[in-house]
Amino acid sequence: MDKYIINGGKPLHGEVTISGAKNAAVAVIPAAILCDEPCRIENIPNISDVTLIANILKNLGAIVKRVNKHTLEIDSRPINTFSATDDSVRGMRASYYLIGALLGRFHNAKVALPGGCNFGVRPIDQHLKGFAALGANCELVNGGIVEAKCDTRLHGANVYFDTVSVGSTMNIMLAAVKAEGQTIIENAAKEPHIVDLANFLNSMGANIRGAGTDVIKIRGVDYLHGITYSIIPDQIEAGTYMAAAVATRGSLLVKNVTPKHLDSITAKLSDIGVEVEEYDEAVRIDASKRPLKSCNIKTMPHPGFPTDCQPQFVAMLSTLEGTSIVTENVWDNRFQYVRELLLMGAKISVEGRVAVVEGVKELHGAPVKATDLRAGAALIIAGLVASGETEVGSINYIERGYEEIIDKFRAIGADIKKQYVPDDEVATTA
Ligand code: EPU
Repeated sequence: MDKYIINGGKPLHGEVTISGAKNAAVAVIPAAILCDEPCRIENIPNISDVTLIANILKNLGAIVKRVNKHTLEIDSRPINTFSATDDSVRGMRASYYLIGALLGRFHNAKVALPGGCNFGVRPIDQHLKGFAALGANCELVNGGIVEAKCDTRLHGANVYFDTVSVGSTMNIMLAAVKAEGQTIIENAAKEPHIVDLANFLNSMGANIRGAGTDVIKIRGVDYLHGITYSIIPDQIEAGTYMAAAVATRGSLLVKNVTPKHLDSITAKLSDIGVEVEEYDEAVRIDASKRPLKSCNIKTMPHPGFPTDCQPQFVAMLSTLEGTSIVTENVWDNRFQYVRELLLMGAKISVEGRVAVVEGVKELHGAPVKATDLRAGAALIIAGLVASGETEVGSINYIERGYEEIIDKFRAIGADIKKQYVPDDEVATTA
């Protein structure tokens, strides 16, 4: 029940260092289940989703050592169960990677999954279709537990996805990496974290080609050896700080990024009039010099504009002169946070998957609540621009995916603090 308290109106300036990518880390950590020796993973973001998935591996029997804030050593050899059904597993969406990893190792998996989420139904039919093609018998049993089993080793197969799906692509890679023969995934997702997972597995001795294109070929291997691997930087975290800097008409050097991964984001910023300069591992943006104008955005799978930056950009666009049209093409219902922005004076109307954002002269502070991780980031951005005080609640969503967000924003000039709400106060206000 803790909150963030923001006093807006200060342009952000300075440098921010981006952490490792959440959506890579939550796949690479369960992928360590497939490794036949201990491995070390570096540049892991220090966020609660990582703690959760690392604890799930521990509960399965792995030895997980935190070497430092950003490095884990994982020895999965002691794992002797393929059943991950306790409540902590249900607590995170990315638990579905346990199915692919456990299937790949034991040819069997029993994994509890969360239900829907705040931006729509989250089906896993494409994951299950892929596992079935590799020879696993899959069933969704009571209470949302997936049981996938195969009497022998899984076998390679052709898997054609009906929809481009990050999770399905990674999950089939995990299941296929030790299968007999060759698997070909067609209509694969191409996000940077897909390439990262393939690089992690290949450095351990896997044979995966084509990651980052829409056809991925995986030839099964018998053994994966230990390595030290460093996770890629988080493109969405970078996009979030950029949107915040632009909304406040500031300037920012965003360090520890792969500029290529940010192309769709920096292209939009250039369109609206922001100065963008790219370096080898950093991007500098400046929104303080030129007038900025509205733009239209359509979210798409990579290399299109990422859905995970959509809420942050809507918050930013609501402060720019003119009308922007934002179309959400990945999720059915990812505009729930808009009603919170309306409380702050934004002018946005939503019809199905389209939001029409009319820039306003001023947002004003209000008590608002995060409805999910990126929605929470959008509310922080709005709060950083708004006059007066904004109180953002349900920040547990935000802390699942943003490392040290308060410290990072404060270091670039934001007036933001965390207010700890004692339990008895929660009880009286509940
Ligand atoms: N879909 C299906 N069937 C499936 C799987 C997906 O129809 O079996 C549909 C989904 O309903 C959705 C679309 O395909 O409409 C894309 O879903 P995808 O599988 O790509 O999403 P995901 O793997 O569940 C990951 C990220 C999300 C991000 C999406 C899209 C993780 C843990 N999550 O989810 O990240 O929005 O890819 O890029 O990697 C976030 O970080 O805030 C976040 C929600």
